[in-house]
Amino acid sequence: KKASIGVTGLAVMGRNLARNLARHGHTVALHNRSEQRTRELVEQFGDEGDFIPTYSAQEFVDALDRPRQIVIMVKAGAPTDAVIEEFAPLLEPGDVIVDAGNAHFADTRRREAALRERGLHFVGTGVSGGEEGALHGPSIMPGGSKESYESLGPLFEDISAKVDGAPCCTHIGPDGAGHFVKMVHNGIEYADMQLIAESFDLLRGALGYEPAQIAEVFRTWNTGRLDSYLIEITAEVLAHTDAATGKPFVDIVTDQAEQKGTGRWTVQIGLDLGVPISGIAEAVFARSLSGSAGLRAASRGLPGPTRVPIADATGFADDVERALYASKIVAYAQGFNQIQAGGAEYGWDIDLGAVAKIWRGGCIIRAKFLDDVTAAFSAEPGLPTLLTSGDFRKAVEDAQDAWRSVVATAVKLGIPTPGFSTALAYYDALRAERLPAALVQGQRDYFGAHTYRRVDREGSFHTAWATPERAEHPA
Ligand code: 6PG
Repeated sequence: KKASIGVTGLAVMGRNLARNLARHGHTVALHNRSEQRTRELVEQFGDEGDFIPTYSAQEFVDALDRPRQIVIMVKAGAPTDAVIEEFAPLLEPGDVIVDAGNAHFADTRRREAALRERGLHFVGTGVSGGEEGALHGPSIMPGGSKESYESLGPLFEDISAKVDGAPCCTHIGPDGAGHFVKMVHNGIEYADMQLIAESFDLLRGALGYEPAQIAEVFRTWNTGRLDSYLIEITAEVLAHTDAATGKPFVDIVTDQAEQKGTGRWTVQIGLDLGVPISGIAEAVFARSLSGSAGLRAASRGLPGPTRVPIADATGFADDVERALYASKIVAYAQGFNQIQAGGAEYGWDIDLGAVAKIWRGGCIIRAKFLDDVTAAFSAEPGLPTLLTSGDFRKAVEDAQDAWRSVVATAVKLGIPTPGFSTALAYYDALRAERLPAALVQGQRDYFGAHTYRRVDREGSFHTAWATPERAEHPA
């Protein structure tokens, strides 16, 4: 019997995806650069399903049913290209190569185009949910041709997480669409994490709550509209005590957040597309700032305000919940706008409602909230921003006084809340009747004759600023 799919690259993510496939009754061919990993997988988990261990590229390819479907799970970048080059020459037209790593979508576009020339389908797919997700049901975001999804889709839908019986997997769009959407998923993940971290910092800094107490607050929030995986694990992390010192775990961890790059990519692409994803950008910068050890050491001791205690602690905690929810809506609104913009730029027809739907389970940003996002985009696929959709508009309206008050308190107390602040500034800028951008245009025209447009007439104009008349001319 031949395998319906093969996995090459059997580090923990690849191994767990292979096991997930086998546990769902699919015969899985296995391959890894070093034979050891392949042997180990079969020894430890061989009884979970049908595996065909192979020890050469040719043997691997020969073990597969046609069209052959090969999932590559190796490090993004050069290692992925190397593995593609190892297998592509052994494949036949119609076969499918899947890259399930966190590749940059531009690399995916390049690889897809090159392999299409050779008659092969290349599917760059986002997979979210970490090790556990890969084993028990991730959220899967495949790009590539429609045709490739015909054979691959049923397998992936089968092993994905399910919410209300619906698989957390859908065909996102051609070539790099899947990896693009996964990139934005990670950008939103950064923003979500930053907003939660700011909430923690506020509850501790303004109220003097201990981490264990804050864990309780998060547990309560997790029973409401903020119900999500990230809030849930936050409560667990905050409740954890370091065994060696007896201190809260969060106090013995170095306060320098690392990043592997997907958040940074999201911001870089956001800049290229001209989409204001300020919430994601602030989250990335907050990590960079935290990691700027020298800069921080040199700045310690700079003056700050005197901290005044807050009288109504419970009221403040409730306000933080509202501010967090409103800021979260902004972060998602921005992320979905980026997907819209990417779709338009690269000619992908991305169904935003379908994206929100497959993020409801399996992935790191899974949340109850995504039910409402799904509903909003299903009702109005061309929604210009989540902020104007009925339920969210109402939620922000209800939250805004609390939101403003929390940001004001943070500023007064000198607690940095770049995520909350930028989200609120974005909201206020979007709803503004007039922006000071008009003045910026005037400045640009003054020093560089960059011209401006008028509110009352068509065309471009320039004012002769250097002359006493300051006469206006059509440009
Ligand atoms: C996921 C995660 C996963 C990975 C992040 C971590 O969706 O399962 O996003 O892809 O854990 O990329 O990113 P950083 O190391 O950049 O925080």
